[in-house]
Amino acid sequence: MSYRVGSAELVPQGESLLVSASDSGASEDIAIFHAEDGNFYALQDECPHEVASLSEGWIEDCSVECPLHSSTFDLKTGRVQCLPATVDARSYPVNVVDGFLELDF
Ligand code: FES
Repeated sequence: MSYRVGSAELVPQGESLLVSASDSGASEDIAIFHAEDGNFYALQDECPHEVASLSEGWIEDCSVECPLHSSTFDLKTGRVQCLPATVDARSYPVNVVDGFLELDF
């Protein structure tokens, strides 16, 4: 399913945005990140370790650090990079189309 988030200008470089994407009855909380490489990435918002919002984490290079226990996740793949989390975050394709962010989820 495709979800149009809004203008890409909503997410300045180095920042993130929490989106409740919904389509045809399905919905998902997804964090969109504008990484330091200039690209946009999207991961499940809920940290796979415990209950924390990755959109409230800290972006460094192409990783986000969970605000609760500091595990980091690769923004490109969702792969967990350090303990205590051991499960990867789901990643989603996000594209910029005519200046608008579009999520596939
Ligand atoms: S809740 Fe994210 S690392 Fe623990």
